[in-house]
Amino acid sequence: MPKSERIAPEQKERVLVVDDDHNLLESLRRLLRPDYELFTAEDGQEALGAMAACGPFTVIISDLVMPGMDGIELLARVAKSSPDTVRILLTGHADMQAALDAVNKGYVYRFLTKPCPSEALGQAVADAVRHAELVRDQRELFALKSCKVLLEGIVKGFSTLVEARDVYLAGHQQRVTALALALGRELGLADNELETLRIAGLLHDIGKVYVPADFLNRPGLLRQEELSVIQMHPEVGYEILKHLDQDWPVAVIIRQHHERMDGSGYPQGLSGRFIVQGARILAVADVVDAMCSHRPYRSSLGINAALAEIEKNRGALYDERVADACLTLFREKGYVLEDTAKVP
Ligand SMILES: [Fe+2]
Repeated sequence: MPKSERIAPEQKERVLVVDDDHNLLESLRRLLRPDYELFTAEDGQEALGAMAACGPFTVIISDLVMPGMDGIELLARVAKSSPDTVRILLTGHADMQAALDAVNKGYVYRFLTKPCPSEALGQAVADAVRHAELVRDQRELFALKSCKVLLEGIVKGFSTLVEARDVYLAGHQQRVTALALALGRELGLADNELETLRIAGLLHDIGKVYVPADFLNRPGLLRQEELSVIQMHPEVGYEILKHLDQDWPVAVIIRQHHERMDGSGYPQGLSGRFIVQGARILAVADVVDAMCSHRPYRSSLGINAALAEIEKNRGALYDERVADACLTLFREKGYVLEDTAKVP
């Protein structure tokens, strides 16, 4: 165990000071102790021991000239073993060139010349801590972006998988998503609610992976038992995605997208306020696109028939506000379903 001295407890940034000058160490203690969790070492070997035993540190401040390992060698080793530790070198005027070389090689974030006023040293440590925080923030941002890219790829993959099994579903989930988002914006949904709606829209029929492809693509009406299997897809979709659902109700929206306001929908027969808003929006978008699409057993019924259905059952099957938003979008704001003509 190194002789490094742990000075202050609590959740403060951790700073290691390395110097063989006892007077300087004492003044640094007084200066840094109130704001940081401070550790000290008297030479390079002791500092490396402290790194191994008590690290990682946010900042390391090292003297250049010390017995044994000098400050540049120490900081070069720290740069390799603990690259996130921000490194400050204390040096005399005579060693300026060596300090500049260390900066240019990337071993040192900043160097300070002795004697260094306490304000300048305090500012340098504060700057180093801010630099470390910036690096941490950037890394977290990068990780979040990577997760988003990964999630996007998974969502698209699942969406493609479902549509590949049902030729009549090609483009359906994208069009439903586009319309649901337009409805959501019309209703003033927040950005996070729109993002949830977007993912739910792209995956709303994922439960159809459970339905035999023959049921989905066969012309003519289905028998009751075949219909029952198809009507399980919201529940199957929920089971597939429910683990995502802590603060992010994608799976619940998918489970409820065939529920109707009067309780006549499936799978749970929920009514009114028991149906989440995202599912009420998705339900309207789904019905409009389904009626405008060709199906194995019928041709497209067209947008006018779809809007007449929404208007007729406004408040009975479909949420009144969502139905009104839908009628406004198509009749007053010129909304057009994308690529309807390409659907077989
Ligand atoms: Fe569905």
